[in-house]
Amino acid sequence: MKHLKVFSIVLVVALLLAWVPAANAAPRAAVTCDQTYTVTAGDWLSKISDKFLGSVSAYWAIMAQTNKKNAEDPTFAKITNADQIEVGQKLCIPSKAEAEAFLKTFDPNNIDPGALFATGAKGQLVVGSWWTSAGEFAGLNEIYKLYKAANPDVEIVNAATAGGAGVNFKGQLLTKLIGGNPPDTFQLHAGLEVETYAPVETYLEPVDDIYASEGLDQVFPPDLAALLTYKGHKWGVPVNIHRSNVMWVNVPALQKAGLDKAPATWDEFFAAAEKLKAAGITPIAMGGAEGWEMAHTFEDILASTMGADGYRQLWTGERAWTDPGVTQALETFKKVLTYANPDRAAYSWPAAVDLVIQGKAAFHIMGDWANGEFTAKGKVAGVDYSWAPVPGTQGIFVGLSDMFALPKAAKNKENARAWIRLVGTKAAQEAFNPKKGSICARTDCDLTNFNDYLKSSAADWAKDKIVPSVVHGAAASPAWAKEFQDIITLFVTTGDVAAAQASLQQACVKAGVCK
Ligand code: GAL
Repeated sequence: MKHLKVFSIVLVVALLLAWVPAANAAPRAAVTCDQTYTVTAGDWLSKISDKFLGSVSAYWAIMAQTNKKNAEDPTFAKITNADQIEVGQKLCIPSKAEAEAFLKTFDPNNIDPGALFATGAKGQLVVGSWWTSAGEFAGLNEIYKLYKAANPDVEIVNAATAGGAGVNFKGQLLTKLIGGNPPDTFQLHAGLEVETYAPVETYLEPVDDIYASEGLDQVFPPDLAALLTYKGHKWGVPVNIHRSNVMWVNVPALQKAGLDKAPATWDEFFAAAEKLKAAGITPIAMGGAEGWEMAHTFEDILASTMGADGYRQLWTGERAWTDPGVTQALETFKKVLTYANPDRAAYSWPAAVDLVIQGKAAFHIMGDWANGEFTAKGKVAGVDYSWAPVPGTQGIFVGLSDMFALPKAAKNKENARAWIRLVGTKAAQEAFNPKKGSICARTDCDLTNFNDYLKSSAADWAKDKIVPSVVHGAAASPAWAKEFQDIITLFVTTGDVAAAQASLQQACVKAGVCK
């Protein structure tokens, strides 16, 4: 096909900082356009690139040139995703020679997002993350605003890769770290997830000095602080604390089925599910499109049947996976699945949350980034939606934390260090977390702007037993966590409790944690 539409881009570069006045930027070398072109209906970039440059794959050069032109003349478009150009946008077409020179160093199979955007007088800040959902980006954008205000001459490049829990991002990042072409800073869970990028000291730079200069050793709670040191160093600064074990509730849907509160036990859950089914409502929404959602649900069920201490001991090797609590968790999960939307494999986590928002389903088990989704869609906590700990996990907080880390090969290291210092501040955490659906990593945040859900989460964090999430990087080595996920995904298809339990025990042995 000659006019191939560009569908193959996994990397989503979605910089939405159009509000930043171009006048703030220091002068740069003028960008010349060989021609200008205004997008009309039915256009797409590769088609335009074929027309002007004689090649369907030279569109990257048009994207880069247009973005660079945009920095000096905002009447030109800022193209954040090569797949999405809009009618009326003005493009800056480079000469064939310029396009060829650009494409010589640009590798479409290993995209350097920095190459596609302008460079500020003080360089760029390329931020790698998997925060692309509405609530996730809303949170991140709050920190971008603070950063831009403090560093107007730095061009922020939002190098985000879609895929919840980092399912796509982490592999891509590893390739970039190995290839010496990483973003300047990137999202990393507190805990053993750092081993994904082993040998850590080869690829990452410790940030101990930032802890020292910003007084960070004093501001994080002990349960989080315990996850921050690896091989004697700090490798990132945490921005939040998320909770994995939340059951989100559509209250009117419950009422329709004659129910007045979320179930506190699995028995109550199954009784409620029967009533919801009879009322024509899907009892529990589930996603499964990205491969981690099932394991997420299961880790919470495991916490319910094992209790906080038992769950923790499974990850430390003090309890074997042959424990009856694991059998009970698998049996419970199997039964829960019979009340979920059968087409769950087609649903990403935000799509599953949306089933609850729309009242098509009554419950959904998901981390509290779902709270960011409800909020981004204008829903009010306690009015439009409600929440409860996953049945049987009252008093347990399955926790995780997002940090930002510093690659050794970062091209704009000082800009990255300024970012990492910023994410640790009270101001950044108070701006980011209400939108993201998490509570501050710091203990000194003012909760005035946090909604009722977040206030309840902060209260629970202070009194509950805290245990680490495995799916979100805190509890186990990356290899073990991946096996856990694969075993549970397979179990969803087979329903074979004995086989899944045996595999879980083997995975623990293989990880060197169980005997
Ligand atoms: C988690 C991450 C959260 C949220 C979620 C869904 O792993 O810690 O911040 O983004 O994935 O993508």
